[in-house]
Amino acid sequence: MQSFVNSEKLLERELKVSPLAAQTFSKSYRYFCKGLAPSYMDHGEGCYIYDVDGNKFIDYMCALGPVTVGYNDPQVNEAVIRQVGRFASGSLQSELEVELAEKLCEIIPCAEMVRFVKNGSDATTAAIRLARAYTGRDVVLMCGYHGMHDWSIGASANHKGVPEAVRKLTINFAYNDLADLEKKLQDHEVAAVILEPIQSNGPKEGYLNEVKELAHRYGAVLIFDEVVSGFRYALGGASEVFGVTPDLASFGKGMANGYAISAVAGKKELLKQIEDGVFVSMTFGGDSISMAASLATIKKLEKPGFYDRLREIGEIQKNGVSDLIRKYRLEDVVSISGMPIHAGLSFEGHGSLNYLDVQSVYSQTMIQNGVLIFAFYNLSGSHSKEDAQQYLDATDQAFSLIRKAVDRDSVDGILLGGKVDPVFKRNIK
Ligand SMILES: Cc1ncc(COP(=O)(O)O)c(C=O)c1O
Repeated sequence: MQSFVNSEKLLERELKVSPLAAQTFSKSYRYFCKGLAPSYMDHGEGCYIYDVDGNKFIDYMCALGPVTVGYNDPQVNEAVIRQVGRFASGSLQSELEVELAEKLCEIIPCAEMVRFVKNGSDATTAAIRLARAYTGRDVVLMCGYHGMHDWSIGASANHKGVPEAVRKLTINFAYNDLADLEKKLQDHEVAAVILEPIQSNGPKEGYLNEVKELAHRYGAVLIFDEVVSGFRYALGGASEVFGVTPDLASFGKGMANGYAISAVAGKKELLKQIEDGVFVSMTFGGDSISMAASLATIKKLEKPGFYDRLREIGEIQKNGVSDLIRKYRLEDVVSISGMPIHAGLSFEGHGSLNYLDVQSVYSQTMIQNGVLIFAFYNLSGSHSKEDAQQYLDATDQAFSLIRKAVDRDSVDGILLGGKVDPVFKRNIK
């Protein structure tokens, strides 16, 4: 029987001193069923995490993407510990910085040069600044989520606090819709086209090549935001998978198995502007601990067959979930999208149930069955076919309860605690 007493006590304390009691929105207690889920992690081992109440879960969140080889990895630990005994951030650069920059130039198709920063948001912002300086233009066309900085979040629904003057400079375009992109390129003097290259079920045949051709035809710089896709689908990200090389690309999340580091990579003529007045600089940009972790992580990701194995497990999971949707006739309520290596569920309302009722039944049941997951699964090198089976067994139970809730038109007696209550919600129908 799971208990979350220690998590709840810590949550009560943290809520008094830190908004949402989590430093990343999507890790907040509000994304789980209140009282019936862990909030605080004690330690991790491979693909498992242990919470502060001693509960064990298979972790399919992987810290929202950063954990690529698994928690407490001996080789990553060894590299980190070796560097801890020397220095973390120093007054001069570490040799690791040279090695890592060379390595990224070897594995990332567009990388003639790289610049290290800390978060994915820093990397996308650096890319946009480089593109604006290069083109002498201000307008950005974006497609996807590109981080918390004003130029991008200002063009999203969550734009509170961003000046109107900044908001006007970024315009969204629709994924897999070339006509929409071309219209916007015609209507504005565009500095940069930035997109997450892999969204929903991936790009249509030839789409990314066409985006590149259009961006260049209208004088804009093409940026792939590979903060999620980089190191997750392949070492060289979507650019490697689809054989399309942008002018610039941003990387983060999966670079260092959980250590904080990100990078903007791309053409020399763009990156070289940093030597000539384009400001991309931060105190912790050269943090050597993350660089040691990144080099050790990449060494493991580079091993032949690493991504084939992830893909194989992903296929078992994605196909298994599709079968279960059919088994419980839930096509109107649950869907799965994404490429097998990184796919996820979406929930819809039905009758008097809204999508959060359905999502709550899913979340509660997955946790009860020892699976920590948000909606999308991330896979690390530590997940096995046995873990995939446990994920599918838990999903089977969750879907049978969703079927029951839909049939009864109620979650009464099915939901045993609070409902999930995301900070940013879709319209509740
Ligand atoms: C595609 C993409 N770009 C950029 C970011 C921003 O990265 P960070 O949260 O590390 O600043 C994210 C974060 O989720 C992301 O998914």
